[in-house]
Amino acid sequence: MNSDMITIDVQKTQHSRLPGLDINNLPFGKVFSDHMYLAEYHDGKWGRTRIVPFGNLHMSPASSVMHYGQSIFEGLKAYRSDEGNVVIFRPTANQKRLNVSAQRMAMPDVPENVFMEGLNELIRIDQNWVPTGDGRSLYIRPFLFATDDYIGVKPSDSYMFMIIASPVGDYYGHPLRVKIEKTFFRAVEGGVGFVKASGNYGRSLYPSALAKKDGYDQLIWTDGREHKYVEESGTMNLMFIIGDKLITPSLSDTILAGITRDSVLTIARDWGLKVEERRIEVDEVIAGLKDGSLKEAFGTGTAATVAHIYEIGYEGVDYKLPELTSNSFSERVDKELDNIRRGRVEDIHNWVHKVC
Ligand code: COI
Repeated sequence: MNSDMITIDVQKTQHSRLPGLDINNLPFGKVFSDHMYLAEYHDGKWGRTRIVPFGNLHMSPASSVMHYGQSIFEGLKAYRSDEGNVVIFRPTANQKRLNVSAQRMAMPDVPENVFMEGLNELIRIDQNWVPTGDGRSLYIRPFLFATDDYIGVKPSDSYMFMIIASPVGDYYGHPLRVKIEKTFFRAVEGGVGFVKASGNYGRSLYPSALAKKDGYDQLIWTDGREHKYVEESGTMNLMFIIGDKLITPSLSDTILAGITRDSVLTIARDWGLKVEERRIEVDEVIAGLKDGSLKEAFGTGTAATVAHIYEIGYEGVDYKLPELTSNSFSERVDKELDNIRRGRVEDIHNWVHKVC
């Protein structure tokens, strides 16, 4: 397949589930739109692409993804603008990042046309699933997985790329109480922490479940070598306002290059805020919590958007953060991102991609 337009076979559902959607009750990722997109890779090239009603897949139990986890994914969102258009936020950034993940996991690139045309067509067909209302969006999940029916350990020769979509409200819906993790780690140098490998999330579940038992919503991961530096929080990149600076861990092979992270940093710089991307010691965070110079802590991510942290636990002590005000940076940047997506302010960075 070359970079020309692709042909997508479309089979539409005869029984839309949209009339049964309760717009006021949108738990994250449990309800899916009417259709899904599939693209198949065999013999070194991308072939059949289709959109069909959302439904189960037929797979061999020997399918290599189930045994060795050759599986990666992305997350992005479609929004309803104030004018009623359907727009997607920074989709080409996701397409590029998917291929960074693909390379690290010994998988084939998903070409821009296979990704973008499938995405556009799926969201155009399921456009009525994009909810109106602040805080609501259509979460889009592209994913790529190995499909060889073979349980020898090697990169698969065949793959499936798919996109599904889910109308969602807030991921967390409340400010977070997080614990700085010092026993388990999420990623180490030379590993896969910087890519969206499915296994990164699977491995986080046990330590997160332990923290949940103690009443924490999420973990703050620290580096796998010394547990000395903060890295990410749960499904999000991590940011702090300390003094008059916005400080966030610099990108490395243990930290995901979040697209919301990049958007927040770009807006902060546009606004003239001092931004530091660097390693941050746990001790610096704790000192800031103790002396009051740490004013805000928040996570950024597609699903979570901007998620406020109200309490941080470390070595058995819980530290409360100052109350947010409408002037707090995280409040303002959250609003600004929404204003850009909804077409309320000028999209100076060309982030908004109009579907229809
Ligand atoms: C996203 O924010 O899109 C993510 O991928 C996090 C997800 C695991 C909920």
